[in-house]
Amino acid sequence: MSQPAYQRILLKLSGEALMGEQAFGISPEVTNFLAGEIKAVVDIGVQVALVVGGGNIFRGEGLARAGMDRVTGDQMGMLATVINALALQDAIERVGMQARVQSAIRINEVCEDFIRRKAMRHLEKGRVLVFAAGTGNPFFTTDSAAALRAVEIEADLMLKATKVDGIYNADPKKDPHAKRYDEVTYDEALGKRLGVMDQTAMVLCRDHGMKLCVYDMSAPGALLKIVSGDASIGTRVNR
Ligand code: GTP
Repeated sequence: MSQPAYQRILLKLSGEALMGEQAFGISPEVTNFLAGEIKAVVDIGVQVALVVGGGNIFRGEGLARAGMDRVTGDQMGMLATVINALALQDAIERVGMQARVQSAIRINEVCEDFIRRKAMRHLEKGRVLVFAAGTGNPFFTTDSAAALRAVEIEADLMLKATKVDGIYNADPKKDPHAKRYDEVTYDEALGKRLGVMDQTAMVLCRDHGMKLCVYDMSAPGALLKIVSGDASIGTRVNR
């Protein structure tokens, strides 16, 4: 059995990632795959928290351009993340783990409220914790919510799951010479506008010394390798 290099992690998943090959919504293949990947790390004793976006269900930008009130759009987006969190809770429990959803917006008939001390307790008991509804505030991205929760729960590592296997100096889909960084500092990523996360999220991580790993979530076993200390996967962002 591998020994974990990190005791507690926070994994940020985009809503779009849950669509798989579909144009909209939640792909059961993807949620089942993710549940399996998460189980592999829980089985070696790692405490796991998740933050999920909502872009597979609702994207506010188009409606905002068409005149919708930004705050209303952001609130709709936050509710979309609750739907995704419930789907993940379901998939995680179906592979035999315990999961709890905590929402930043009060919606008690559906899930728990975000209460930090309760969140810590769930993690200590080995439950997978899914944080929903972002920060509960408009104008903040899910990346910012993930950074905030990672700092709050004192995660040893925040992971951002993407479709590419790390951070590149140019778009690898457009530039065949694009080079992947093994490691980069927050200041370098901010200065070069590497597009890892929005600046609020980056600065929060930087100022609180949160380590970040950007990796390709579709690679089977990648999450387990990362938490087992394999530094060859993804890009690390450090202070
Ligand atoms: P411990 O206190 O550590 O035993 O945690 P627990 O989550 O098992 O206990 P608790 O009695 O708090 O919760 C029992 C079940 O009710 C769990 O599935 C919780 O997710 C759920 N639950 C707790 N609070 C709420 C809430 O405010 N709303 C909803 N919908 N479910 C809740």
